[in-house]
Amino acid sequence: MCPQSDIAKLDLDSLWHPLTQHRGLETRLPREIVSGEGVFLTDIQNQRLLDGVSGLWCVNVGYGREELADVAHEQMKKLSYLPATLVHAPSAMLAGKLIDMLGYPGKVYFTSSGSEANEVAFKIARQYHLQTGSPGRYKIIARYRGYHGNTLGALSATGQAERKIGYGPLAAGFLHVAAPDLYRNDGDAAAELEETIEREGAETVAAFIMEPIIAGGGVLMPPDDYLKRVREICDRHGVLLILDEVVTALGRVGAAFAHELYGAEPDILTLGKGLASGYQPLAATVSKQHIFEAFEGEPDELNHLRHVNTYGGHPVATAVGLRNIEIMEREELFDRSTKTGDALLARLRGLEDHPNVGDVRGRGLLLGVELVENKKEKTPLDASRVASIVAHCARNHVIIGKTTSATPGYSNVLILAPPLVLSEDESDQLATAIEQAIAKELPNPS
Ligand SMILES: Cc1ncc(COP(=O)(O)O)c(C=O)c1O
Repeated sequence: MCPQSDIAKLDLDSLWHPLTQHRGLETRLPREIVSGEGVFLTDIQNQRLLDGVSGLWCVNVGYGREELADVAHEQMKKLSYLPATLVHAPSAMLAGKLIDMLGYPGKVYFTSSGSEANEVAFKIARQYHLQTGSPGRYKIIARYRGYHGNTLGALSATGQAERKIGYGPLAAGFLHVAAPDLYRNDGDAAAELEETIEREGAETVAAFIMEPIIAGGGVLMPPDDYLKRVREICDRHGVLLILDEVVTALGRVGAAFAHELYGAEPDILTLGKGLASGYQPLAATVSKQHIFEAFEGEPDELNHLRHVNTYGGHPVATAVGLRNIEIMEREELFDRSTKTGDALLARLRGLEDHPNVGDVRGRGLLLGVELVENKKEKTPLDASRVASIVAHCARNHVIIGKTTSATPGYSNVLILAPPLVLSEDESDQLATAIEQAIAKELPNPS
């Protein structure tokens, strides 16, 4: 091991960081983080930082759970690896648990990232149609401002232009419609979906993919009936509904799955992040039984799903995932997310009197604060002024997020997604940091 003082140099010399401009990074490189406990990270100078975004919105049960380390340790000693073509208990047990929680029959395919979970969903949707007599259905409709991952298929589904510049041509067959946004409230997004399906020709459309609440794109809240209407539209036109719950599931918005809150079920569901709370890289694609059954056939045909990955269903990852869900249930973290989130939302709504705070919104512990130049026009606040709020919080040892490299002109939403174990005091600390940052960085002339 290197002495800690050498880590920053090694990092700068050798690592390529995501979403980071490296020029001048030596003056901006964050201090090395050495440990985590609950909602706090500790850096090399022993400074504690409140992590208001759970890493990348994934450490739902909080940092430093020895119980999860023990499960990983035991599993590594017993059976460190097995491909998903073979049978082992942790992956069967986690799959069974997820199907039980969902309450309908289906099958789980494990991957190690949310992006790949969505790739699998697209492949399943297309092959399903091929094998049920609709080979012309290949198009995937997604939404502007939605995020579905970084691999070329998932990026093609992503509706955030700034993430795609320079990486084209992307995968063919992906198109986009508007997502609803209760704050900007511009048009009937469900009706637009149906018109698009009709204009494209329903017989060419395989699936519609959406996040129940757009997360990284700006915590965009849908009307309560939107998902139900989408479900009906998909059913009417034979289009499969893929719900990307990589962020919203496993307690993030106060339920096991966000779609429970909106009263409609997907044909295919994708999970990630909170599934193992970031203790292991784990994601999943869950297909309803009727989808799965379309893949039945003779062993020498090609009807089976022909996707494989070395680490899908990894015994250590799935063992940790299972215990992670048991912790969530034992500690009633889904309810806690709702209660803590409601209180934090109510407090932050106090900011809405400020001329630059256009909207404060969210569900459970996924919250957004939309900053504007002008409340009447809802003109987004300039990205550098939004960044100054995030930086102010960081100087006060509180990490918050914001929309970044997403939709041109809309890097204006502060995002909070703290671990679900956030206490009242910690929630106060988070809210205070944001209130102070807004008061200091965006002085209110009135
Ligand atoms: C809604 C959503 N889907 C998919 C992904 C991709 O997951 P991963 O980064 O694990 O590939 C993300 C990641 O942020 C996400 O927010």
